[in-house]
Amino acid sequence: MSTIISPSVLAADFANLERDVKLLNQSKAEWIHIDIMDGVFVPNISFGLPVMKAIHKHAEKPLDVHLMIVNPDQYVEDFKNAGAEILTVHYEACTHLHRTLQLIKSHGMKTGVALNPHTPIDVLSEVINEIDVVLIMSVNPGFGGQKFIDSAVTKVAKLKKLITNHDADTLIEVDGGVNTTTGAELVKAGADALVAGSFVFKSDDPVKTIEDLNNL
Ligand code: DX5
Ligand code: ZN
Repeated sequence: MSTIISPSVLAADFANLERDVKLLNQSKAEWIHIDIMDGVFVPNISFGLPVMKAIHKHAEKPLDVHLMIVNPDQYVEDFKNAGAEILTVHYEACTHLHRTLQLIKSHGMKTGVALNPHTPIDVLSEVINEIDVVLIMSVNPGFGGQKFIDSAVTKVAKLKKLITNHDADTLIEVDGGVNTTTGAELVKAGADALVAGSFVFKSDDPVKTIEDLNNL
């Protein structure tokens, strides 16, 4: 079975977004990963709704939106209108996670929950059946191009068990420092989907790099 690849546009050339999104359309990427950072939840600001709408105009694949923002409930409808198909919020940013997940569903999107490297898997045990995708962070969110944190691999294996024990059909996605080496370990541990930014866009042949990841 092939791995779902969700290349992160954060590492694309922002001056040539149309070109880079079209490149992803031609590739074996299944989703397109959109990193939204607010400068509060994470110490960096990426881009917001108008840029995401511009990406959506050219994208022929589902937008997999990773919100690194506080108060995500406030913007759920806006992200739906901007073209999100999967809307991922951070566990650490949601006091009432169950309510947030219902809100995302009520807007017809798939639900995602991201966990920072220090957050244990077990915090999701009571809501796992409400989650379509769990995003395991293998770097501290905020920047592309960081080093992979190895403990993500054991977290994937633990999450896989949790999902099986709850008879859930949740997908496991991993984000940060993914390349063919770390990606292979993650897939072996049970990851269904991999996000890759720099490894894809800094390579000589991004389409081929996506294919290599897809074959893991
Ligand atoms: C980090 C973002 C990632 C980032 C990954 O906060 O959530 O999606 O783009 O970048 P790489 O693949 O370069 O680690
Ligand atoms: Zn991300």
